Amino acid sequence: TRLWLVVPAAGQGRRMGAGHPKQYLPLVGRPVLACTLARLHQAFPSARLCLCLDPDDDHFDPAWVPFADWRRSAGGAERVDSVVNALDAIAPEAAEDDLVLVHDVARPCVTVDDLTRLLAAIADDPVGGLLAAPVADTMKRDDGDGRVRTTESREGLWHAFTPQGFRLGLLRRALNDALARGVAVTDEASAVEAAGYSPRLISGRRDNLKITHPEDLALAALILSAQQQVL
Ligand code: CTP
Ligand code: MG
Repeated sequence: TRLWLVVPAAGQGRRMGAGHPKQYLPLVGRPVLACTLARLHQAFPSARLCLCLDPDDDHFDPAWVPFADWRRSAGGAERVDSVVNALDAIAPEAAEDDLVLVHDVARPCVTVDDLTRLLAAIADDPVGGLLAAPVADTMKRDDGDGRVRTTESREGLWHAFTPQGFRLGLLRRALNDALARGVAVTDEASAVEAAGYSPRLISGRRDNLKITHPEDLALAALILSAQQQVL
């Protein structure tokens, strides 16, 4: 079986509000997109990449892609649509039991160690799994009016990160079924769960930040320099 990387990079970065998509903002001397792809390449140099890009994207530069074997696919309306398009694009070349890791372009701080541990954990798993971290803060539910209604137990609650890795066949069926049934698909695991499986939680570093809001950019730069890994 082969390893495929699907990187959704077709978002508009509305919450970042930078005027252009956040994956093209400079992070540590180069765009977020280049940083994220460099990390993935460091961990999996011979993987095949499918990069989801908005067809109208006029910022992308192929010089930022370090993979020898890569293709682009058209971004869709939502993240899940971008991922489904990418899986359709690789399906003719891939086998049903090839492993696919889906990783947000907005997560440049994922470490090589976490990537390697994730792959090792799911390589022989019948379902697949995702990087995640147990919730550390006390969880409050509001009353809709800016006041606390209840304190929720954080027992057993996890933050779901990416990458999330599954066999191509299982993931495609799960995503297509979930979309057909109108299930909300916020990540790959949620579709696999809706198909009746229990993805494995692989404990990952908490600094696998998704750059979302303006303050996240400086935080990501600090994290990358603190990690002192080759970019
Ligand atoms: N993404 C995508 N296609 C979409 C929407 C999102 O490929 N139609 C990608 C983004 O590029 C990002 C990842 O999915 O790497 C996670 O999405 P998010 O953090 O929400 O990024 P944006 O959608 O770009 O940001 P926002 O929601 O603030 O507009
Ligand atoms: Mg979004």
